[in-house]
Amino acid sequence: MTKKIAVFVGSLRKESFNRKMARVLTTLSPQSLALEIIEIGGLPLYNQDYDDEGKPLSAWIEFRQRVKPFDGVLFVTPEYNRSVPGVLKNALDVGSRPYGQSVWEGKPGAVISVSPGAIGGFGANHHLRQSLVFLNVPAMQQPEVYIGSAAKLFDANGNITNETTRELLTKFMNAFSVWVAKNSTNP
Ligand SMILES: Cc1cc2nc3c(=O)[nH]c(=O)nc-3n(C[C@H](O)[C@H](O)[C@H](O)COP(=O)(O)O)c2cc1C
Repeated sequence: MTKKIAVFVGSLRKESFNRKMARVLTTLSPQSLALEIIEIGGLPLYNQDYDDEGKPLSAWIEFRQRVKPFDGVLFVTPEYNRSVPGVLKNALDVGSRPYGQSVWEGKPGAVISVSPGAIGGFGANHHLRQSLVFLNVPAMQQPEVYIGSAAKLFDANGNITNETTRELLTKFMNAFSVWVAKNSTNP
């Protein structure tokens, strides 16, 4: 059966390389996975008071309800100051509460980082994995994907012209399909 994968992009930039990457992954993904980008840019910053007082913001409620039914999660993120961009960390935090009702719980996940720099967002990729450990998201270990020199990667239509990178991404998505099938808690 097809597994539904929620995709989160850690950049709000119009011409974001990471968003382009997320779109490319949709086309390279095997038929066993159905990818859908979930927007996170409109989520108000997390404030625990609203949950503690039993009055969560409507945008948070919608986000939590939206993410919950997915079988797996895929994060495509840039690196900001050697870490995870605030917009993505905020989405993780919003989805993780109220305590005991985290939408991330048990969902198999994977991470790709994309940067114009040389080290491909390695720092963000691994800081994100640190949160995923706590959130009980089994994050696929291999293949690791840190995409550097992103400014040279896409053509005018957002396609990846480099065949080696396309092969790596295809391998990644195939491995993720196996990972989701093995670790999914949804029937
Ligand atoms: C606040 C800020 C911090 C950044 N820090 C890093 C960094 O630590 N490492 C890195 O490789 N690039 C860093 N960059 C450059 C981003 O990789 C670059 O802007 C990239 O295009 C962002 O991803 P996007 O194209 O998906 O928006 C930073 C950019 C911003 C705006």
